[in-house]
This record gives sequence, C-alpha cells and structure tokens, in this order.
Amino acid sequence: MADNNFSVLPAHIGIIMDGNGRWAKSRGLPRKMGHIEGAKTFRRIGEYAGDLGIRHISFYAFSTENWARPEDEVNAIMKLFGDYLKEAEDRLQENIEKGIRLRFLGDKDALTPELRAAMEYLENATKDMDKVNLNLAINYGGQQEILHSVKNIARDVLSGKIKPDEITSDMIQQGLYTAEQPPVDLVIRPSGEQRLSNFLLWQSAYAEFWYSDVLWPDFTERDLDEALRAYEKRNRRFGGV
Ligand code: IPE
Ligand code: IPE
Ligand code: MG
Repeated sequence: MADNNFSVLPAHIGIIMDGNGRWAKSRGLPRKMGHIEGAKTFRRIGEYAGDLGIRHISFYAFSTENWARPEDEVNAIMKLFGDYLKEAEDRLQENIEKGIRLRFLGDKDALTPELRAAMEYLENATKDMDKVNLNLAINYGGQQEILHSVKNIARDVLSGKIKPDEITSDMIQQGLYTAEQPPVDLVIRPSGEQRLSNFLLWQSAYAEFWYSDVLWPDFTERDLDEALRAYEKRNRRFGGV
C-alpha cells in the first residue's frame, strides 16, 4: 500500500525535468533516448499528481536557453512534444472527464505553426476544466515572461491608461502565463542540480525546494511522495516569525 496520505499538499508544484541526457549517457545511448524515457516519466508523474489531488502542476520541458543544444537534439525534443500534443488531442474526451486543463507556458511564436495550432486548440478545448491544471513549459524563460508582462504594462502607461505609480505587482502577475494560478509552493529538481535555471522566477518567490540525485527518467511516484513528505514538514514563514 502506498503511503500517500498527506496532511498538507502544495497548491502548485513546479518540476524541472532534468537529467535525461545523463540517463542516456550512463547507458551508452544517444541523448534522445533519455528524452524519450523522460517523456514517459512526465506522463506518469502528471497522472499521479492529479490522482493525489495536486491542483496545479508545472513541468519544465524546454527552456529559452535550450535552443543552444545541437539541432538534432532540439528536433528530437520538438518531435516528442508534437507526439504528446497529438496524444492529448486523441485523449481529449478522457482528459475533459478527468477535469484536466492544459496550459503551455512559454513563447509559442518560435514554435512551428503545427505545434502552435495544437497547443492553442488544447488550451481552448480544456479552458473550462479546473480539477487539475497541468502546465507544460516549452520555450519558457522566467525572465522573458516577466519582461513580456512589463512590456504590456508599458503600453498601457504610454496610452495613458495608467500612470507609472499605479503599476502594481498584481498587474505584473496578470501578464504572466500563469496569471490566475496560485504561486508555486514546491519546486522539485531531480538530477543533482540545485538551481532554478530560469524556471517560474516570479511564481517561486516563496517556494520550498526539494532536490534529488535521481535522474528524471528514473523518477517514480515514490520520489514524488518523498518530496511531498518533506514539504509537509517545512515551516513556511513568508518573512514572518
Ligand atoms: C532535461 O534533461 C531535458 C531538457 C533540458 C530538455 P537534460 O537534457 O538537461 O539532461 P542532462 O542535464 O544533460 O542530463
Ligand atoms: C533546465 O534544465 C531546463 C529544463 C529541464 C527544461 P537544463 O539542463 O537546461 O539546465 P542547466 O543548463 O543545467 O541549468
Ligand atoms: Mg540538464
């Protein structure tokens, strides 16, 4: 029997899916194979998080900095992303029955028209769901996201709609991809790295961190349990005493 009754659950979890390349390398396989396995883990953990009752979960799949990788690796990741979108379309009815809302965080403009169309279709088709909010960050950068929001506010200032002194944090929040979602309570990063790598910077202002040496393709439901168990014990102060 899995030990997965938690006294407190994070409202929003961010997961940095890292370690695919090292997983493949350690087996003498091309990096692409790590991404294929990692994509399976993503499906498994996304489903499990939903079953546990996590309301918001954001997975980091591809950063704005990841374009610097070899072209064949980038293409392999985009192909896997396309496969996922197709599968999500095929399973749309099932996802809707489960109350899953899909969002894609990041700048869609740099992606192919086919990917863009599929992302927009899925976002729109699931927009009334709110049991599980599943975000996939692709071509995502936290700094770029904040910059994008600030530029929109600057336009409102320029047109005279608001004055500079009237700009609020909430206005910046409203311009983020996660506008109406709660802040991130828990950031999980496997693969031994202990950094944010430009992930959900604004949203993670008061997030707890949980790191593990396990590589993402090897990440299991028990690892998520362990992270949630650790979160349960954290004493969050938000600047108070
Ligand atoms: C994470 O795994 C997936 C992406 C960043 C796209 P990596 O590909 O970064 O794996 P490592 O860090 O090289 O092991
Ligand atoms: C962060 O992983 C991005 C994703 C997991 C999508 P990276 O492997 O790109 O991060 P760094 O380069 O180690 O910081
Ligand atoms: Mg990495």
